[in-house]
Amino acid sequence: MFMQRELALNADEARHCDGMRAHLAAEIAAAGGWLSFEQYMDTVLYAPGLGYYSAGARKFGGGGDFATAPEISSLFGACVALQCAEVLGALSGGSILEIGAGSGRLAVDVMLRLESLGRLPAQYMILEVSADLRERQRRRLQERVPHLLERVCWLDAPAGEPFNGVILANEVLDALPVVRFRWRRAQIEEIGVVLENGQLAAAPRRASRSMIEICDALAAAAGGTWDEGYVSEYCPRLGAWAQSVTGSLNTGAVLWFDYGLPRAQYYFAQRHDGTLLCHFRQRAHGNPFLHPGLQDISAWVDFTSLAEAGAAAGCELAGFTTQTYFLAGLQVDREMRVIAGDDENHFARLANQARQLMLPGEMGERFKAMAWLRGLDLELSGFALQDLRHTL
Ligand SMILES: C[S@@+](CC[C@H](N)C(=O)[O-])C[C@H]1O[C@@H](n2cnc3c(N)ncnc32)[C@H](O)[C@@H]1O
Repeated sequence: MFMQRELALNADEARHCDGMRAHLAAEIAAAGGWLSFEQYMDTVLYAPGLGYYSAGARKFGGGGDFATAPEISSLFGACVALQCAEVLGALSGGSILEIGAGSGRLAVDVMLRLESLGRLPAQYMILEVSADLRERQRRRLQERVPHLLERVCWLDAPAGEPFNGVILANEVLDALPVVRFRWRRAQIEEIGVVLENGQLAAAPRRASRSMIEICDALAAAAGGTWDEGYVSEYCPRLGAWAQSVTGSLNTGAVLWFDYGLPRAQYYFAQRHDGTLLCHFRQRAHGNPFLHPGLQDISAWVDFTSLAEAGAAAGCELAGFTTQTYFLAGLQVDREMRVIAGDDENHFARLANQARQLMLPGEMGERFKAMAWLRGLDLELSGFALQDLRHTL
């Protein structure tokens, strides 16, 4: 549990939260008193000027709410760069599009390693919803790789000019808004959001026919029915979104990294309370109503759904593995030596970071990597050591 002082907001933060609560109250009223959780998550993450990703919260890295793999270690970006280099090599050049580039750290690490390999992309494009993060990315790139800035551009919409190369997305899919549902023998409920005595609260109501059909299919995929009161999530926009952001790739690879599971494991009867995950000041918890607009809300990714989106987009599913095996396949141990050189202290620090990225109890198993290929036949080293495609 949080200590009270860890929860305390300063005056600006409190004002921001009040603004978001007023906005939500109006939205709930306009929706007839009950807002779907999907719409709630959309608002608290993306409402212009107020949402977690649209407004100026620090979000990740030091002083932020959570740490992603590129924020933990440059080893992640170095290995991703090696995977990109294989693809760019096979294409004799090309560009990279990163979706949701966060603080810009992955972009810096990938470009520096590709530069050292003589495999810089013609362009490094970034598709980013947050104006605040775009600015942070620009500043970091300006500071760290000023000589490469001319290759970087920001896209305003997914459907840019067609290009050959690589699309990357780390921890973006988990931010797509989800529907929450509850399984009851008598009826399946969709959990929405209401105001109760002026406070945001969860409220179930009978699910629509289409949601009931979806739940029946998810339960069947997980091997039967769930216990009374089983709660989980479903991301209705994942397929269409993944197809739209990868639509401009002519020939090349798409690399997805995120926490998640194949459908049959995601909807295990034992995972009784779903996968919703909230982050506030480096604390993970399950309360989506804490400080709306100031905390991150995410849900695990159904990788079977993502694989289906790839097939619908005309891509070949080229690999699915854990983060551990992805990094090992790209010889992360060798990258430690490349980055640290003869500095043994630096090497020891990198070894600790590698543990965080790779140990099963840390990020190693929870995080997965998936590759799609379009118009290209290529063995990808990051997916050569372990093939989990049969689990999808
Ligand atoms: C959890 S952060 C991950 C940041 C970065 N990839 C990393 O690993 O550190 C999610 C990122 O995706 C961006 N984002 C969220 N939804 C998006 C969307 N629909 N399209 C593009 N970017 C999005 C956020 O603004 C943020 O930069």
